[in-house]
Amino acid sequence: MDIAWVEWINVLFRFTHVLAGIMWIGNSLLFTWMELNLIPPGKKDKDPDLLGTLDMLHGGGVFHMEKRVMHADGIPERLHWFKWQSYTTWMTGFVLLSALFWTNGSTLLDATRTSITPGTAVLFSLAGLVGGWLVYDGIWRSPLGRKPVLAAAVSLLALFTAAHFYGQIFNGRALFLQIGAMMGTFMSANVFVHIMGNQHKFMRSLRSGMPYDPKFGKNAKSRSMHNHYMTFPVIFLMLSAHFPRLYAADWNVPILVVVVLALMTVKHLMNSRYHFKYWLLWIFATVAMAAHLIGIFLHLPPPGVLMANAAPQDPAVIAGRTLFQTQTCATCHMEGSVQLAPSLHGIYGTEQELADGSRILVDDHYLRTSILTPEAHIVKGYAPAMPSFAGRLNDEQISDLIAYIRSLSPPREAGAAAH
Ligand code: HEC
Repeated sequence: MDIAWVEWINVLFRFTHVLAGIMWIGNSLLFTWMELNLIPPGKKDKDPDLLGTLDMLHGGGVFHMEKRVMHADGIPERLHWFKWQSYTTWMTGFVLLSALFWTNGSTLLDATRTSITPGTAVLFSLAGLVGGWLVYDGIWRSPLGRKPVLAAAVSLLALFTAAHFYGQIFNGRALFLQIGAMMGTFMSANVFVHIMGNQHKFMRSLRSGMPYDPKFGKNAKSRSMHNHYMTFPVIFLMLSAHFPRLYAADWNVPILVVVVLALMTVKHLMNSRYHFKYWLLWIFATVAMAAHLIGIFLHLPPPGVLMANAAPQDPAVIAGRTLFQTQTCATCHMEGSVQLAPSLHGIYGTEQELADGSRILVDDHYLRTSILTPEAHIVKGYAPAMPSFAGRLNDEQISDLIAYIRSLSPPREAGAAAH
């Protein structure tokens, strides 16, 4: 693959993705804030269509807002809709996911724990976006949807089941991104199917002379509340590439669950701040509790391999995998991101091109040298940025790391590595 066009897609689409996401989520937060701060009509207000008012100081003037019921004869000439921020965020996100992960499915996989092929991994990832939406939407369309608390619990349970499934086959970075992408897809599909869908129906019904019907607003509002609660977890999951300690932890699935629940609780407490005095105290308590739980998971020994089809586990590989995360290797050698340091997936037994133009076989000896005296061989295209680990790791630890890196490449025929 030509690295140049991938780089351009990365820059262009990631920037647009973040920008559109900020605009969309900013809207979601502002509109919910306005809803919560509307002053309901008082006894003096005789206008039956008035739902509330709000005054906001900005830019040297007061925005005097009124929320009101709309009738066929009162449709404003210029009425603003909000949808393109959402669609742009989703479309650019989809291109990024495809270009950075789906073109090479092995960037999704955790080669030490599964033997499924990269192609299957891409199919699983895509199926999560489509199937996840069908499940989530189905739950809320079913009779269960009339009991919001129960439906929310079932939806979250379904999401965490998906996280457990992906946790068995995907590496941590891909797992966090996959769940973030699924939630982002639900949010955009909510806008497309329910929020916009109902607004179209609402406007059509008004234009055809029907009276104002609050049912269109109700469904749209419930879905926009879902989106509102998903914003914090999605932002966290989309930024998670910067938190290798969390995504690369052995217990990354429970950590993800804690983070999602804690951030939804924080959002809820923020929304309750106008009628709940201790909201800020509870936010601190929630964050402290979540941090404490995550701390416990970070120090727990690995859960072992649960999938029946997982590759057999060598104790040295498991120990090496843990070292790789605790000794900061993962911070630079992030799977799927080759800006900082080369990916170590699939390199064992191949020939590496060095900065001085020479080629060298990647074997145990080369790996040992790379860890102890990184400056001895600099990989082509990279800065000599890797610190030496001589004196910081003992011989056994280095052997474990080598065993782990070896396990990231498909096993070769005996002797094939020499060619
Ligand atoms: C500060 C960032 C950083 C850290 C931390 C780091 N590396 Fe590296 N690593 C690099 C860079 C940059 C290169 C490429 C330049 C070079 O060859 O020295 C590299 C190269 C390598 C190579 C050679 C890769 C190849 O394709 O030939 C191996 C193997 C490696 N690192 C293993 C490790 C291990 C194991 C650890 C943890 C003990 C680790 N690295 C920690 C940045 C880092």
